[in-house]
Amino acid sequence: MAAGFFGPIKPIAVAQQEAGHSLRASLSWPHLVALGVGAIVGTGIYTLTGVGAERAGPAVILAFAIAGAVCACAALAYAELATMIPTAGSAYTYTYSVLGETLAWIVGWSLILEYSLACSTVAVGWSGYLVGWIQSAGIHLPAALLSGPHAGGIVNLPAVIVALAVAGMLMAGTRESATLNIILVIIKLAALSIFVAFAAPAFDANNLQPFMPYGFASHVEGGATKGVMAAAAIVFFAFYGFDAVATSAEEAKNPSRDLKIGIIGSMAICTLIYMLVAISAIGAMHYTTLGNSPEPLALVLRTLGHPVASHLVALAALIALPSVILVMMYGQSRVFFVMSRDGLLPRSLSKVSKRTGTPVLVTGITGLFVAAVAGFFRLDEIAELANAGTLVAFIAVGVCLMVLRKKAPDLPRVFRCPAPYLVGSLAVLGCLYLLFSLPGMTLVRFLGWNILGILVYLAYGRARSMARHNQPVVGI
Ligand code: ALA
Repeated sequence: MAAGFFGPIKPIAVAQQEAGHSLRASLSWPHLVALGVGAIVGTGIYTLTGVGAERAGPAVILAFAIAGAVCACAALAYAELATMIPTAGSAYTYTYSVLGETLAWIVGWSLILEYSLACSTVAVGWSGYLVGWIQSAGIHLPAALLSGPHAGGIVNLPAVIVALAVAGMLMAGTRESATLNIILVIIKLAALSIFVAFAAPAFDANNLQPFMPYGFASHVEGGATKGVMAAAAIVFFAFYGFDAVATSAEEAKNPSRDLKIGIIGSMAICTLIYMLVAISAIGAMHYTTLGNSPEPLALVLRTLGHPVASHLVALAALIALPSVILVMMYGQSRVFFVMSRDGLLPRSLSKVSKRTGTPVLVTGITGLFVAAVAGFFRLDEIAELANAGTLVAFIAVGVCLMVLRKKAPDLPRVFRCPAPYLVGSLAVLGCLYLLFSLPGMTLVRFLGWNILGILVYLAYGRARSMARHNQPVVGI
């Protein structure tokens, strides 16, 4: 058997053959753009804009631009690989086909952090909006059921409930969930448009002074992580999700066209919107007031004297944030699905329901994991760990793009990433810089997660890998 330095390599031809065999092809590009926008616009722009402003001052605008530029490079790399290898599993599958099983496992293990913890983050953010909403109506629920032990409660029950509800929707069938997602995406974009329409006229250049009060590099100041890069490392959360489109490749009707439009289209739309929202927010209100608000966009509108608009934006967040959970959980269930099909996780996980055409068991397990994390842990810490996992996946995609161009330059490519070595290097270096701009504690937790992952691989997946035992390996 041919094997790379990092274990067996799943030939691209095998990965391509697997596409379309078991999951129903029911999605076309409008669904995929909606899936992308549904995953991208969420707690990042609605909530973490304030955290970013607190860490970087007005230069949070620059932080958004940096994170967006790095993500754009990663998105281009994703688009080339996703159209070449249109099978579920995204960065995990690409790494398996290009670098080898051991690294693929590490990437897959990191994707669990990305997708699952992003779901948990958004579930906790949603719960915050819900609790604020209910309390503003004068109804007081038992505090012990509204937050985890870190905040003196027992469990964040609303976050648990929303996570389980979304898992149930996904188990009921992709098509229905994707259509509902489109409606929620429209609501979300309408709310951000309302925000820009009301906040932009209040732009005051004085609010941008001093522009970079904490400098550029990430550093600890007064016990908190500060600097433009510290902010970029957290608002990075607002940009990812487009890769969830790549994980749905097996369910795309015309993968080559639909994935290309889905990934790049959703990324471009969101970057534009974020720039507008960030400039409007910072221009309308001094960053010290904006900093660390749990509801920065609503706060800006209220302070500017637009209570109805503020109410609408908050309501839209409440209605639409579950769409982010929907798309990320969808991506997670597909990654688990492929990892189990490859034998690295128990095969029973990849069983597809005949009735709905979806992997019901693995979706249910994902829902339980997401709900458990959301119920008991802190929002900012979950988000930072999700970012760490995502950054590792993006680094792998950048490396795979360049290695494959070198190893197999003549392989047909439906979408060719422009200047692949430049774009790939920028994606890899940019993601590394963002990764090491995260708080030290997050990096320690991330290391712990990976050590656990490697132990699971050695104890289970390595011995049961399909590629290691059954697949005839013919190389790229
Ligand atoms: N980009 C997604 C969000 O901001 C994960 O919620």
